[in-house]
Order: sequence, then C-alpha cells, then structure tokens
Amino acid sequence: MTTQAQLHCLCLLTLYSITGYGQEGKFSGPLQPMKFSIFEGQEPSQLIFQFKANPPAVTFKLTGETDGIFQIQPDGLLYHNKTLDREARAVHRLQVSALDAQGNTVEGPVPVTIEVKDINDNRPVFLQQHYEGSVRQNSRPGSSIGTLIAHDMDEKDTVNSVLEYRIVDQTPKVPRDGLFLVQEYSGILQLVVQSLHKQDTPQYNLTVEVSDKDFKTLCFVQINIIDINDQIPIFEKSDYGNLTFPEDTAVGSVILTIQATDADEPHTGSSKILYRITQGDSEGCLEIETDPQTNTGYVKLKKPLDFETVAIHNVVVQAENPEPLVPGVQYNASSSATFRLTVTDVNEAPQFFQQVFEAKVSEAVAKGTKVGNVTAKDPEGLDVSYSLRGDERGWLRIDPVTGEIFSVAPLDREAESLYRVQVVATEVGGSSLSSTAQFHLTLTDVNDNPPRLVKEYTGLFFCYPLKAPGSLIFEATDDDELTFRGRHFTFSLGSESLQKDWEVSKINGTHARLSTRHTGFEERVYNIPIRISDGGRLPLEGTVSLPGIILAVVFFRMKRDKGQHNAEGAQASEAKPLRS
Ligand SMILES: *[C@@H]1O[C@H](CO)[C@@H](O)[C@H](O)[C@H]1NC(C)=O
Ligand SMILES: *[C@@H]1O[C@H](CO)[C@@H](O)[C@H](O)[C@H]1NC(C)=O
Ligand SMILES: *[C@@H]1O[C@H](CO)[C@@H](O)[C@H](O)[C@H]1NC(C)=O
Ligand SMILES: *[C@@H]1O[C@H](CO)[C@@H](O)[C@H](O)[C@H]1NC(C)=O
Ligand SMILES: *[C@@H]1O[C@H](CO)[C@@H](O)[C@H](O)[C@H]1NC(C)=O
Ligand SMILES: *[C@@H]1O[C@H](CO)[C@@H](O)[C@H](O)[C@H]1NC(C)=O
Repeated sequence: MTTQAQLHCLCLLTLYSITGYGQEGKFSGPLQPMKFSIFEGQEPSQLIFQFKANPPAVTFKLTGETDGIFQIQPDGLLYHNKTLDREARAVHRLQVSALDAQGNTVEGPVPVTIEVKDINDNRPVFLQQHYEGSVRQNSRPGSSIGTLIAHDMDEKDTVNSVLEYRIVDQTPKVPRDGLFLVQEYSGILQLVVQSLHKQDTPQYNLTVEVSDKDFKTLCFVQINIIDINDQIPIFEKSDYGNLTFPEDTAVGSVILTIQATDADEPHTGSSKILYRITQGDSEGCLEIETDPQTNTGYVKLKKPLDFETVAIHNVVVQAENPEPLVPGVQYNASSSATFRLTVTDVNEAPQFFQQVFEAKVSEAVAKGTKVGNVTAKDPEGLDVSYSLRGDERGWLRIDPVTGEIFSVAPLDREAESLYRVQVVATEVGGSSLSSTAQFHLTLTDVNDNPPRLVKEYTGLFFCYPLKAPGSLIFEATDDDELTFRGRHFTFSLGSESLQKDWEVSKINGTHARLSTRHTGFEERVYNIPIRISDGGRLPLEGTVSLPGIILAVVFFRMKRDKGQHNAEGAQASEAKPLRS
C-alpha cells in the first residue's frame, strides 16, 4: 500500500515529467472542474492533484470512468495507481465530490477530465503477413502490382502512427536488384524496369518493411511473372528452295522439314507452333505435323501428288501460335516461309472412277441385254481396253472399247443372286499397265420355278384290304425367292375322274392331305396326279403323281418337274413305308 508520504515524494519526483497539468502550474487547489493531460505508459502510483477541503467538508469521493486506475485519498490526493493506456481509453471523465463527516455531499460533484497522451507504444502491423501478386512479363515500368496495407494503433496523425514502407530484400536478384519499389507512404508496389521474363525468372520474393518512429514490421510478398504471347514464331529461313518429287511418291512420305522458333514460355500455347499452308496446295495433298518438343515441322504427303493436275506447287507456310497474340503484336513476314514443289510425271495405270460398279437386272433378261457399264481413264490420256475376269458362269461380255457389259447366256437368280466379276482396264500402248475394279450384278427374281414336292414320297402303302379310308400328308415347295408372305400353294387332283376314289384337302400353304374316299380298292399301284399351283404373278403349276397303292405301295410320281425330284410322298397316318 502506498502511503500518503510516499505519494507526496513521488509527486515531487514526477513534477517535471508530467507536462501541462493543473491550472496555473499548481498541484493543489480548491475543488473545481479541472483537466489534466498525462502520458500513457508511465509508472503507476503517480500523484495528479491535491484538492483542498473547505469545512465542513472533511473527505473526498471519486466517481466516473476510473477503470480501477484512479484513486482519491480522504485528504484530497488524486493519483493513478496503474499505467495508463491511451489505446484502451483516451479520455477518462471523473467526478470529485467533497463530503462532510456524515458522508453528505457538501461540494460538487465537479468534473475532472484526464486526457491520456499518446506515446509510440504500438508497432505497425500488416493486414497480411504474406502477400501474393502477379505481373505480366514485359510490363511497363510503373505498372502497379498491388498495395500493402499496415496499421498502427497509436494516435492517428501523429508521428507515432506515421508509417513508412521499404523493400529490404528481393530474391532472386536476377537480372538485378531493385526491380520493384514500394511507395514510401502509400504502400503501392510497382515495377521499376521492363525486364521481367517468365522463362528467366518466374517468381520473385520480396521482404517489405513497414516502420513507425520506433518499430519495424516485415511482410513477405511473392510476385509471379505471367507469360503472355508477345513473341511471334520466326522461321529459320524464309525460302526452303526447290523440291522435286515423282507423282507416285508414297502417301505419308516426309518431303521437307521446316523449323520456326518462338521466344515465349516453352510448352505453352504461346510458344507452341502450328504450321498452316496458306498457298500452293489447293488439292490438299500436304499436311504438316509439329514435334511438340522442338516445334520442328514435317511436311508430309496426305494425298497422292498428281502431275496431271498440278505440276508445280508454290507453297507458303505460315507459323502460328494456338494462343492469340497480345494486342499490338502481329505476325509478320518472318512467320512465313516458302518452298517450291515440282511434281514429275510417272506413267500410271488407267483409273476406274469407282472401285465397285453395281447394276441390277431381272434374271429373266434376254441374251444380249446391256446389264451395266464401267469407265476408266488413263492419266496419260492413252486409250483404254476393257476385259472381264472371273466370269465363272460365262454369263457376261464386256465391250473392250465402251466398257458396256452385256448378258450372253440366261441368268439364274437361283444360282447366283449377286454375281461378282472383275473388270480390267488396260492402257493401249505405253507399258500396258492395267487396273481392276469390281462389277456386282444383282439379279432380281421372277417366278420361274414350278412347285415340286419337297422329297420323294415313294414306298408308301396302305394294307389290303382297306378296313377304313386312309390318308397321307405331303409337302410342296419351289425354288423362287421366298417372300415375306411365305408360300401359298393350292392343291387339286390331276383329273376329275379321280374324284370318286380320292380327295385332296389343303392343310396350309405348303401341306395337303390325300385321302381315299372308300375302302373298295383293288390290290395294285395307283398313280394319283396332283396339281400344285404357286399362285405367283405368272402362276406356275406342277402336276405331281402321288402313287396311291392299295395293299401294295403308294408311289407318287411327278409328271412335270423342272428339277430332278420326281415323286412326292406323304406322311400318312395310314400309309406305311414299304420297306419297313
Ligand atoms: C490500486 O487501487 C486498487 C483499488 O482501486 C487497489 O486495490 C490496489 O491495491 C491499488 N494498487 C496500488 C499499487 O496501489
Ligand atoms: C518464394 O517463397 C516461397 C515460399 O516462401 C518459396 O516456396 C519460393 O521458392 C520462393 N521463391 C523464390 C524465387 O525464392
Ligand atoms: C528454283 O527453281 C526456280 C525455277 O526453276 C528457279 O528460278 C530458282 O532459282 C530455284 N531456286 C533455288 C533455290 O534453287
Ligand atoms: C517480325 O517481327 C520480329 C519481332 O517481333 C522482328 O524481329 C522481325 O524483324 C520482323 N520481321 C519482319 C520481316 O519485319
Ligand atoms: C453408263 O451407265 C451410266 C449409268 O449407269 C450412264 O449414265 C452412262 O451413260 C452409261 N455410259 C455408257 C457409255 O453407256
Ligand atoms: C403346315 O401343316 C403341316 C402339317 O400339319 C405342319 O407340319 C406345318 O408346320 C404347317 N406349316 C405352317 C407354315 O403352318
């Protein structure tokens, strides 16, 4: 506890260090409104003023914003027993009252104002410890990169809060130190010189200091250099001279290697080079591939060269970046190069205009009908002679001069629905070079096949004497093209006189049943002609003979049949195979 005597002593000691407080330089006086200015940061237990009591007042009371710092002794000594902090409270508004022995207020309360004066007790601080900024390479001097912001808690507009910025380090110092500056008071960071290149130094680290009168604080700034496409590709030479290639040079051959370079950052769209042919390749015979590592261009044949179409190509190649150039930079003549490609003639075989010629005719066309034609031309303009190869069935003939193809035999769709032969074009004179194409002849169906039984129905019999009427089932077919409707044959007995003994009934489009009408048959072989009609557009009929045998065998024999199949038997409930 500080005694009153010690406080008086302190009062004297600190008299000169506390400026301008008290009225008229006095340290004691009657109770009246007063104002004191005291520096923050001072030692505690300092006397501020002594109020004199006028009887009947015997003691004093202090109220207001004391913050536990200010005290008043009963004898009127006002002091603070803790260090003041302006940044916590800049002005303390206190009230002092004089009390009598009973504790009643006899004077006051009067206002006593304590202003806390600033000392530089706060270091400046940056808003961020690390800043990151970027600047395009080749930017102009003075380009702003960003603003560094620091604060100082000390009183504004005093020397205690005036801050100064300074760059203390730059890493790396390439191409030299001092590439950047920070404006002393505003903290604006700027470029000093126009010599930043991302490919040399992609990044700089700066250490920036901010200081007030007494303190310094550092922050770190990372500056990234951004590439821009400000360099154009430059060809190593503008003319690659004369090249000569025969027209039969293989597709895919590299005919020339070209090279341009670009000073922008490697492996980016700003330095990658695309070569484009702008002139001299109207046929699209050439293409250029770029090696992504070296930007070397390989001029290749994409399509065969043709002496007869273009013999001399004056080619102009433009080198470009996939990325657009920055405004103000343009491709110029150094970004293009030329070469002259001379194509030499080679005797070539005649060429067909198509590899496959197709035609379609009815299988029923007459001998000597024109079924198609082919055309070939010799690049050197020689006459062409046509011939056929692979005409296995001997159906066709080609006119050697016109290329027209004729039928020379009946055609049969059921034998070849798509007839394939080769046509050969041979140059007349020259080296007799030839080339081959395909001729595909599709045959369309006509109803040219009569119905027939699917198999030989032989060796079937009914047992004699017939105990009950018998029957058998048989099936018909024909060789014409099957339509989506399926087959629809109609069946009937070959002659009316048979109707008293036999009966034919249709089961469906392909099957029918032959039945006996009674049981009074002799023991012998009966041949039963059956008429089968296919109902086609030009209906064909077949009459087959079904042997109806009593006791012995039932032979079915085809009377009229295009093919080999003579008889048709039927699967009968009562008819039985003879040799079983
Ligand atoms: C300061 O005053 C407070 C009460 O206001 C008291 O508790 C404390 O002990 C005093 N400190 C000194 C160092 O006098
Ligand atoms: C800059 O500083 C960062 C992190 O502090 C570090 O990773 C980077 O390598 C430094 N760059 C240079 C150029 O020194
Ligand atoms: C290419 O050929 C042309 C025409 O024959 C000629 O004028 C030119 O000088 C040749 N250029 C080179 C580089 O040989
Ligand atoms: C094209 O521009 C480059 C710089 O971008 C320059 O070095 C070169 O000389 C120019 N070429 C021509 C033909 O103007
Ligand atoms: C060849 O056939 C096409 C159509 O198939 C026809 O346009 C052309 O005139 C024919 N040429 C001859 C010579 O018959
Ligand atoms: C026609 O009838 C026969 C005998 O009943 C049968 O086997 C066949 O499957 C039938 N065909 C059709 C297409 O229904």
